Amino acid sequence: FQPKLLAGRRVLLTAGPTFEPIDPVRGITNLSSGKMGYALARAAREAGADVMLVSGPTALEIPHGVQRIDVQTAQQMHDAVMANVVGQDLFVAVAAVADWRVANASTQKLKKNADGGAPQLQFTQNPDILAEVAALPRRPYCVGFAAESENLAQYGAAKRVKKNIPLLVGNLGPQTFGRDDNALMLFDEQGHTSLPHADKLTLARQLVREIARRMAA
Ligand code: C5P
Repeated sequence: FQPKLLAGRRVLLTAGPTFEPIDPVRGITNLSSGKMGYALARAAREAGADVMLVSGPTALEIPHGVQRIDVQTAQQMHDAVMANVVGQDLFVAVAAVADWRVANASTQKLKKNADGGAPQLQFTQNPDILAEVAALPRRPYCVGFAAESENLAQYGAAKRVKKNIPLLVGNLGPQTFGRDDNALMLFDEQGHTSLPHADKLTLARQLVREIARRMAA
């Protein structure tokens, strides 16, 4: 029996990668299957929440009872989040958002030149969706994610403070990407605790309990 810890709560999540076009047939992206974010959307729904999931391109099915908005680029993800954030109780940013987009993307397919020259791409920074939501005057409870390749305990604590959020969830990447299991480290004002290695749905349900407890405190 799973108590309805988020009954009556409105939850907005981001999940998956973003895709930033170079031209109509090419682009750059981040490594993310979306599995952790989708598992969290499902767990929040199971806990009784009204759940909206803003998702970059993934191969995953919409979790039962969850409303999904599909986006491609970080800018589209940003716009969908900002259009829906008012009235949300909880915002969980799980998406692996591309930090940069191609500033000089082409509307036509780039052609290979005979001389073998490569196109020169220029990049411009994407908006930080989580930082923007966290800076809202009437903000929802904000949870961020961080994938680090090493020094998770140190980087996680620093990132939580820098992002100005009450809870940051860390995992070691890239070894967890695309897999069905993970291990998490939770950073809050008190310090950090671990959710040991388990499948992503089990971890998502545990995380929902951790978040609900902190929201109620
Ligand atoms: O700074 P970093 O990208 O490592 O932070 C990761 C956290 O910030 C994740 O929760 C991610 O979803 C969120 N993020 C975001 N918008 C960005 C970059 C990251 O919401 N442009």
